[in-house]
Amino acid sequence: MRIDIITVVPELLQSPFEHSIIKRAKEKALVEIHIHNLRDYTNNKYRQVDDYQFGGGAGMVLQIEPIDKCISKLKSERNYDEIIYVTPDAPLLTQSVSNKLSLKENIIILTGHYKGVDHRVRELLITKEISIGDYVLSGGELAAAVLCDSIIRLIPGVIGDETSALTDSFQDDLLSPPVYTRPANYKGLDVPAVLLSGNFSKIDEWRHEQALKRTKDIRPDLL
Ligand code: ADE
Repeated sequence: MRIDIITVVPELLQSPFEHSIIKRAKEKALVEIHIHNLRDYTNNKYRQVDDYQFGGGAGMVLQIEPIDKCISKLKSERNYDEIIYVTPDAPLLTQSVSNKLSLKENIIILTGHYKGVDHRVRELLITKEISIGDYVLSGGELAAAVLCDSIIRLIPGVIGDETSALTDSFQDDLLSPPVYTRPANYKGLDVPAVLLSGNFSKIDEWRHEQALKRTKDIRPDLL
């Protein structure tokens, strides 16, 4: 899979892709991530890519021209399955959205800043809009990093233990059951006995009950 991210703050997107699972996915050539500085696509001598909004109001708006130039250049080089804009005024990211995106070949993610992007970008160039939650970040870069992480870990071969990603919270619309590791007793706190029983059908049953209970208690809206 190839992911192209367009940003005015490329520095914000360096570290998230240089460690742990994503680093290994890149080393195994399961994903390529390319960061594009929007300022490389303007003729403005100060490299300015934003301007005041028509009609007045606080906050600058990213202009359509550099975004169009950047996306057009990328589209002239290969086909893209989705051109995504991350923004708080969009449908929420869910596990099912990430599952579907993990099967794509090439995607572009446009990140906004300031007051967002000229609305014509959204009408003409964007194929999908995603919010990572009902709160506002200073820019879309961290949202893009979250989106990429949630997608990349689902690409077949990225996570060593093939079943691991499938047993995550949300994969079956339930939160995960509790997990424990050694020691079996810590300061008088015991691990649930069933997990030490070696009876795997009982363990599966217990995990399912716990997942249901936690979902009912913490996120009843998922049921
Ligand atoms: N940009 C700023 N806030 C955001 C959010 N909650 N989701 C996606 N992009 C954003």
